[in-house]
Amino acid sequence: MLDEIGHEMARRDDRGAVATYIPELADIDPDQFGMAVATVDGRVMVTGDADVPFSIQSVSKVFTLALALGRHGDGLWHRVGREPSGHAFNSILQLETEHGIPRNPFINAGALVVTDAILEGRAPKETLAELLQFVRAAADDDAIHIDADVARSEQETGHRNMALAQFMAAHGNLRNPVEMTCGTYFHQCAIAMSCRQLAMAGRFLVGGRDMPGLVARRRMRRILALMMTCGHYDASGDFAFRVGLPGKSGVGGAILVIAPGRASIAVWSPGLNANGNSHLGTQATEVFATRTNWSVF
Ligand code: DON
Repeated sequence: MLDEIGHEMARRDDRGAVATYIPELADIDPDQFGMAVATVDGRVMVTGDADVPFSIQSVSKVFTLALALGRHGDGLWHRVGREPSGHAFNSILQLETEHGIPRNPFINAGALVVTDAILEGRAPKETLAELLQFVRAAADDDAIHIDADVARSEQETGHRNMALAQFMAAHGNLRNPVEMTCGTYFHQCAIAMSCRQLAMAGRFLVGGRDMPGLVARRRMRRILALMMTCGHYDASGDFAFRVGLPGKSGVGGAILVIAPGRASIAVWSPGLNANGNSHLGTQATEVFATRTNWSVF
């Protein structure tokens, strides 16, 4: 079935457009497509460019949220909300009227607060090492690393994120210097992974006896609820409608989708739609969910 989906996607003319606001991502070949499924019984199935590494970007927000909840528990929700924003992932609008408290942990402002929370009392290097350790343990793969060129590229051009961070600092919602929180955030977004590695890493959210037990069951449910309601920014409702599974996208073109109790699914195609979500990735997961009949509804 995965190969069939791969072939179908190869025939689609409209592949979306690669993100250009991070210069290092602008040169990626948009003709690539990969997909991997890691099932609860330990199998991994792949198709297409499933072993090509890409920048996971905002998919990293799932891992940092898991770490921050582990560290701070429900106290985190004093600093970041749990509602869909209905706005673009990098919007500053709601921060103005909502006292510097971002709507949810998956828009950029919310993710910056989450990163600020895992930094607390630690150096960026130490925090990033802890994050990599978490991702490597989840994926059972010690080769996963941060792409320094992508991190630098975003550092040089990340004015919007720095503006979000400054604005939240003005409201007392950042505990560390803006440069430190942003620098750590840019590096987390620059984690490089393939579909195979990302599908493996997502297994900690699947549940099931042999899956990595990195977060408590009740926390897993909450992370999945947020992925369903906020994982695709202002297209989260559309993704839930079309796919019916919790997912998290990134501007590198990746989407991590969880079929609870069944599988972790990673899809990657660098061309994005107008909301900044992978164009073919969304279509492929829609076809996959329809054919498997996997849905939480
Ligand atoms: O902060 C940014 O803008 C990027 N590092 C990540 C944004 C992202 O992946 C949003 N995804 N659709």
